[in-house]
Amino acid sequence: MSGPAVTPMSTPTPKRYLDRESTFRGRYSREVFQSLYFSYKPILLKISFYLVCGFLGRLFLLANANLIGFWVDSYCLRWAADSGACQSLPEVFTGFDDRRFLFLLVGVTAFGFLLTAFYRIGFSRLSAEAVSRLYDEVTLRTSRLPIQFFDTNPVGRIVTRFSSDYGNVFRLFGGPLAEFFAIVFDLTCMLLLVSLASPLYLPIIVLIGLANYGIYRLNRDRLRHERRELSAGRSPSIAHFAESTQGASTIRIFGRQATFLRRFSRLNDRFLDQRLRTSGAVLRFSMQMSALTALMFLFTAFAGYWMAQRGWVSIGSLGVAFTFIALSGTSLQMFFEWFAQFEEAMTGVERMNDYLRRKIEPGAKLPAAREFPTDHPVYDASEEARLKGTRLVQDRCASVTIEDLWFRYSPDLPYVLKGLDFQIRPGEKVGIVGRTGSGKTSFVQALFHLYPFERGRVLIDGCGPDLDLAVFRRAIALISQEPTLFRGTIRENLDLAAMNTDTRLLEALDRVGLLEWLQAQPAGLDSPVEERGRNLSAGEKQLLCIARCLLQDAPVIVMDEATSSVDPQSEEILVRATREFFADRTQIIIAHRLSTLIHCDRILWLHKGEIRMFDKPDKLLPVFQATQLA
Ligand SMILES: Nc1ncnc2c1ncn2[C@@H]1O[C@H](COP(=O)(O)OP(=O)(O)OP(=O)(O)O)[C@@H](O)[C@H]1O
Ligand SMILES: [Mg+2]
Repeated sequence: MSGPAVTPMSTPTPKRYLDRESTFRGRYSREVFQSLYFSYKPILLKISFYLVCGFLGRLFLLANANLIGFWVDSYCLRWAADSGACQSLPEVFTGFDDRRFLFLLVGVTAFGFLLTAFYRIGFSRLSAEAVSRLYDEVTLRTSRLPIQFFDTNPVGRIVTRFSSDYGNVFRLFGGPLAEFFAIVFDLTCMLLLVSLASPLYLPIIVLIGLANYGIYRLNRDRLRHERRELSAGRSPSIAHFAESTQGASTIRIFGRQATFLRRFSRLNDRFLDQRLRTSGAVLRFSMQMSALTALMFLFTAFAGYWMAQRGWVSIGSLGVAFTFIALSGTSLQMFFEWFAQFEEAMTGVERMNDYLRRKIEPGAKLPAAREFPTDHPVYDASEEARLKGTRLVQDRCASVTIEDLWFRYSPDLPYVLKGLDFQIRPGEKVGIVGRTGSGKTSFVQALFHLYPFERGRVLIDGCGPDLDLAVFRRAIALISQEPTLFRGTIRENLDLAAMNTDTRLLEALDRVGLLEWLQAQPAGLDSPVEERGRNLSAGEKQLLCIARCLLQDAPVIVMDEATSSVDPQSEEILVRATREFFADRTQIIIAHRLSTLIHCDRILWLHKGEIRMFDKPDKLLPVFQATQLA
């Protein structure tokens, strides 16, 4: 037997089976910003319009301070024009009386407020839409990731990405981002308006900006690090919780609640510690900023007093400057605090971006309707429509060819199938036997191309998955001992791709003997199926899954009996499936009870991933049984 040079003996043992949660160090990559750009691209024009409205809104609102300044100066001109302390008003305000000043103030405020509200609502709605787009695109790609990804990533980590990371991103980008921009607008407007009042105040504002930036830089790396750790620290406890929920009955039967609780509280404590560390870092940063603002306020007061004494600035403009400098301190502080929160949301974007860019399984393609132009292969729209109805094989049964198949779950794990090479004729019924761990289920995984294999081919009627992976997979139907049903309706569970008429669904149910049962259900095909089919009996679940396979109309049927502990009713259903429902199809049956296999045409005996024997049942079974007893 020829095979790749690597043998199980020389295969390096993996250091870790599970991938470590990446915490991403350093700057955000260009790709992260690119993903954000993809999200906002379709609405850039609209969102720019709202941003302009927002900027004008803030400008109008803040310009009130300047108006009041001019109003004050107009009094100065009226009461003490000869003192020399008054400065002239701009042309437009000459002859303005109090009523006109008041009227202007009310008008400007109302207009500014309306524009601001318009901006806030419009921007937040659009921004939320953009983030949802990112989420949809990530989900689309995650559903096509290689199965190894789901093997090596604990479910809690995946759930965290889709709940908490997405939550963080949504919380900031879907609303407060408008606030963040409003602060940026405020700061820009203040700079503009204060220079309009007197350019002499500019150096003070620049100094405040620089000092705040310095404090931000001092804290930035620590804050980034703590936030990333916090975000990564959530998954282990969620993973543990998810696992415990799934295994709740087993834990109870073995009375191991205390062990699981202890582990949960240990993981949770670790997470809470990290939470405290993160809050501490945020608090330290916030305190430093507050202290700086207070200091700057004092400094401005002295500087302002000094300049007014020398007649460099008017009294009105001094009021304007004070208002803005007081405001800018708070705004700058808020700016950096928001910026830090923005970073937290960026950590979420970074993680979502990671899922967005991962390689999808070989042979898979993204639907033509995908929006983000990532490096993944994509269906052409017409090709996609054509393939939807394409069958790999037109006949009711097909041959299965396995050529020199070498398979392992990942490059750092040993081979579990070693050079399998055989053929199954169209319509043949082939049983597979072998000790536990001999590679039977792995063979099914290879048949479906669920994992890429390094060498060899699996062909159905001479065709591989080259035409299209989905079309190839549709040619094989899997009946598992543990039927997989999803939360939804009976109709959705029977017809996952919504491709069949009700008449066909009812026909399939009739064939498996479930029609009467269905008619007794109040909502018929729309009756609910709970999570994993919890509200159905084991037999009903199994029959529903068999009806689903009948509807798939696949030329090859695979049945994987995971354990020998099948209850008699299930066994009867499986036997009926092979003899009755799928009698005219090519069948591959993995069974533990040899009685199930007597009616097969041939049996393949797998031993440690290799073919020990492939022959008729009467020849093979006695030899196999003898070794089992030995
Ligand atoms: N997802 C996986 N990742 C890594 N190794 C795996 C994975 N699934 C199975 N294996 C390993 O592959 C080998 C073959 O397992 P497989 O499930 O094919 O055995 P089997 O013949 O179906 O056994 P059983 O009769 O118990 O169902 C085993 O050593 C198992 O540990
Ligand atoms: Mg198995």
